[in-house]
Amino acid sequence: MLGNFSYCNPTKLYFGDDSLRFLSEELHKYGPNVVLIYGGGSIKKNGIYEEVTRILQESGKNVEEIAGVMPNSTLAKLYEGIEIARSHHADLLLAVGGGSVCDYAKAVSVSVNCEEDPWEKYYLRFEEPACETLPVGCVLTMVGTGSEMNAGAVITNQKTKQKIGHVFADERIMPKFAILNPRYTLTLPRYQMVSGIYDIFNHICEQYFSGEDDNVSDYISEGLMRAVLHASRIANRDPQDYEARSNLMWTATWALNTLVSRGKSTDWMVHMIGQSVGAYTNATHGMTLAAVSLPYYRHILPYGLQKFKRFAVNVWDVDPCGKTDEQVAEEGLNAMEVWMRELGLVMKISELGATEDMLEGIADGTIILSGGYKALEHSEIAEILKESM
Ligand code: NZQ
Ligand code: ZN
Repeated sequence: MLGNFSYCNPTKLYFGDDSLRFLSEELHKYGPNVVLIYGGGSIKKNGIYEEVTRILQESGKNVEEIAGVMPNSTLAKLYEGIEIARSHHADLLLAVGGGSVCDYAKAVSVSVNCEEDPWEKYYLRFEEPACETLPVGCVLTMVGTGSEMNAGAVITNQKTKQKIGHVFADERIMPKFAILNPRYTLTLPRYQMVSGIYDIFNHICEQYFSGEDDNVSDYISEGLMRAVLHASRIANRDPQDYEARSNLMWTATWALNTLVSRGKSTDWMVHMIGQSVGAYTNATHGMTLAAVSLPYYRHILPYGLQKFKRFAVNVWDVDPCGKTDEQVAEEGLNAMEVWMRELGLVMKISELGATEDMLEGIADGTIILSGGYKALEHSEIAEILKESM
């Protein structure tokens, strides 16, 4: 049965290769002090920095910068950013980059006016902000996380080796606006492109592999998954194909903007295991997911057999005639494996820097959720990690 829910997504999107022209319109809605947040310098190489700062200047903004937000943004960097935003009396946080930069901006947003320690409050106790938050705007340059239209903010605590995501329930944390120009993603290295593609696909899987009801979200998910497969094959052959890259960008947004989770319990265990791998290795997010996915899905297949069968037939076009449900379901995962290998995804956590002596810590650091087909025991996580080596 489709459960009870509310739905609201207040992020305004501007999509297309001329979408940056709407930035000035958005900037006029906020006060003069803008904190421009970006990563390790890709936006300086590809010209996006120049374009954005010109618009900020023309709009008469008083700009301070937080540069060098790293992939898998860290808590130490968050503390630094909070101080900058406070001393600049920021009216708007403008994130220009991928999921790490956008997530980071949201984490600063909820922390600037909060007296408590953000790690304790938001990442260990999962509380909602009781304070004023700062508006966040986003110019997206990397596709995958959906951070441009959701309230998720993942932070890595390097000291404790914990990578934790808080998906805030508070709509104020969603970006007020996001500018999605597919052309900006064309300079991404292939490794990041395919990692992002797998991140999109897995976000849909995490929501799809839960429940046995007749849920409209599952039909939308199957369409989104087919869109990812189609566009990813074109982008893999020709990364400069604008149509494929724009379809991937749009799919990424819809894969994780809260729509397809409506009425679903949702799984998220691939992300929980992948995040713990990331905390130990600092590996690229999508690759951590790719490396643990198949051992995980093969492990839970018996508990969600009918859904895995449906996945095989509706997403991978497996012909079910004359086969057992198990055979059909396994063929679906085998087809998925072929696609993953075609993309050149990393299929082993050992290739991401995970070593035998880390496995216990990674298993201990995995947050266990129960929305999927099987609430895992700690020993099962250890087993899945071993199979991922
Ligand atoms: O730092 P710069 O120099 O900008 O380089 C980045 C970075 O090295 C580069 N890049 C980005 N755009 C580029 C580009 N290089 C060339 N041309 C461009 N146009 O790509 C690298 C990766 O960037 P990053 O932002 O880290 O990637 P992604 O978008 O995958 O974000 C990953 C973070 O998001 C979190 C992950 O855990 C991870 O911390 N997630 C956030 C979610 C959310 N908000 O809902 C959900 C996701 O599941 C995920 O957990
Ligand atoms: Zn993800």
